[in-house]
Amino acid sequence: MPQAAQGRFAIQQPRILILGGSGQLGRELQRSFAGVGAVVAADRMACDLSSPDSIRSVLRGAEPNVILNAAAYTAVDRAESERELAYAINATAPGVMAEEARRCDALLVHYSTDYVFDGSKTGPWTEDDPTGPLNVYGASKLAGEQAVAAAGGRHLIFRTSWVYGPHGKNFLFTMLRLGAEREKLSIVDDQIGAPTTSVELADATRRIVEGIAAGRFGAPEDWAGVYHMTCAGQTSWCGFARAIFARAAAAHGAKVPELIPIASADYPTPAQRPRNSVLSNAKLAERFGVRLAGWEQALDAVFELLPR
Ligand SMILES: NC(=O)c1ccc[n+]([C@@H]2O[C@H](COP(=O)([O-])OP(=O)(O)OC[C@H]3O[C@@H](n4cnc5c(N)ncnc54)[C@H](OP(=O)(O)O)[C@@H]3O)[C@@H](O)[C@H]2O)c1
Repeated sequence: MPQAAQGRFAIQQPRILILGGSGQLGRELQRSFAGVGAVVAADRMACDLSSPDSIRSVLRGAEPNVILNAAAYTAVDRAESERELAYAINATAPGVMAEEARRCDALLVHYSTDYVFDGSKTGPWTEDDPTGPLNVYGASKLAGEQAVAAAGGRHLIFRTSWVYGPHGKNFLFTMLRLGAEREKLSIVDDQIGAPTTSVELADATRRIVEGIAAGRFGAPEDWAGVYHMTCAGQTSWCGFARAIFARAAAAHGAKVPELIPIASADYPTPAQRPRNSVLSNAKLAERFGVRLAGWEQALDAVFELLPR
């Protein structure tokens, strides 16, 4: 395999540009890639994804070997009324990044979502299953996947689900706050998925990028494409909440509220969500030999990182 086909960052310290550096995943990518190369993280101030000119100027200035795009419009319900902005950030911006990545022969790593599916399947969704987003956020992320692939450069798209971690706004912190405030919590119990930590996502991404750089996975045509990347196992939002409160009680004696399992129909939201969000990680394991931890083990690890 010629060196160039393996990625030119294989032979020198790679320049790694992280977009969305202040988000949950962006922060963990900074931690995980710190020793891998020269890491530059851009937040919204440094690179506004709603402006293609801003993206081009940052990418041309940085001339990265690897672009990790952790930025996204992630307000699922608000996207229903901010369609244009959601598409600008989740669809147009990744397309511009992918064109720029191709221009400078960089590897673009982009993240997508379980919400590209309609949730109707019994069993885990594979990468070959038909997409059918139920909401604007999912549709905008699917358009982003398509734009990245269409640019024709070296790219990886990792679809993940129910992301949380030790930093940022997420379900874990919402539960801990509500649990301290209320005696009872009604939590949706008929949507299932795999809670996935930003920590596991960042570390799995690093292992794969390092493998590509070392030429372990062959040429781009052998590895480029869409992969599912979630923690193993599955639960409902109510099951996730139960696991959080069990750990909070054990770790710092937190009060455990009464959890009332409810149906999605009893918790109406502007955006409809898939019933079954569970993604199969078989392709990721087969192609890269990478498996993320089980969701409960990953939750334990995040609790270890929380301030006591
Ligand atoms: N969160 C989930 O449950 C979930 C589930 C499935 C897939 N994903 C995907 O996983 C990836 C990482 O998600 P996450 O949970 O880490 O998201 P997050 O914590 O919401 O972070 C998103 C980041 O995008 C930035 N951003 C938003 N609009 C921007 C703009 N106009 N210009 C520049 N930056 C902008 C935000 O900046 P500010 O800090 O300034 O707002 C933030 O740093 C995304 O691709 C997301 O779609 C997430």
